Amino acid sequence: MTEVPGPPAAPPAAPAPAAGSTAAFARHETDAVRERYARRAAAVAADRYSLLASPAALREQQQRLRAMAALWRAHGWATLHDKALCEVGCGAGGNLADLLRLGAAPARLSGLELLPERAAAARAALPAAVRVVEGDALQADMTPGSQQAVLAFTVFSSLLDDAFQQRLAAAMWRWTAPGGGVLVYDFTVDNPRNRDVRGVPLARWRALFPQGRVQARRLTLAPPIARALEHRAPALLPLLEALPPLRTHLLAWITKPT
Ligand SMILES: C[S@@+](CC[C@H](N)C(=O)[O-])C[C@H]1O[C@@H](n2cnc3c(N)ncnc32)[C@H](O)[C@@H]1O
Repeated sequence: MTEVPGPPAAPPAAPAPAAGSTAAFARHETDAVRERYARRAAAVAADRYSLLASPAALREQQQRLRAMAALWRAHGWATLHDKALCEVGCGAGGNLADLLRLGAAPARLSGLELLPERAAAARAALPAAVRVVEGDALQADMTPGSQQAVLAFTVFSSLLDDAFQQRLAAAMWRWTAPGGGVLVYDFTVDNPRNRDVRGVPLARWRALFPQGRVQARRLTLAPPIARALEHRAPALLPLLEALPPLRTHLLAWITKPT
């Protein structure tokens, strides 16, 4: 994990909410997110992200897990068992399962998920003690400073409203305990074939978490390359992965001062 130095960028001007109250504003973007995911579900094969069917997906998950373990060890954490950890946009619970594998205690783990079918899948897959809350994370009832780490993996890239991104980042920061951090993983550049997402570059993370100390590293061989080669030439995957310009995602650990 390399620390990325430099002053925080100024936050871009946020567009005014389209209408009325905070709740109406949030509903507008979460409705849009629901539509984006419905379009996505119709457009991609059901096993696109299957760890069994896709060697590229399995590599990506294992590489990320190694990087997470390394950064938390470097942060001085010898165990996750005593840490409260929350994932925003937990989907079907794959990352929460990874956190359990890294030693997190089920009763200290929670996931917030907008889509009912995904929240239900996470509940079904995880131990009952893991708290899975369905709904918009912005409305979640989470005690300020209660979480040692708050995660969001490939969530901000599907939030196209700057102001909504900023509010969600502010909530995640509020929930984070001093000495803990926010862990984000997302792709950095726009995808010209998918207008329902946009890249989240390092400067944007700095703008969203201006009080944090950001450590970031590039991960993940560009998915179109990885998918094209995963069955035909799997031996090429680690070689290409070693070339930083071909890695499309950023894993960033943003620590909150004590
Ligand atoms: C691309 S998926 C990634 C799921 C999981 N983080 C992973 O890495 O496998 C992003 C998830 O974030 C959820 N999400 C988006 N906006 C949200 C919000 N405001 N509150 C809670 N969940 C949200 C979506 O419903 C979706 O399940």
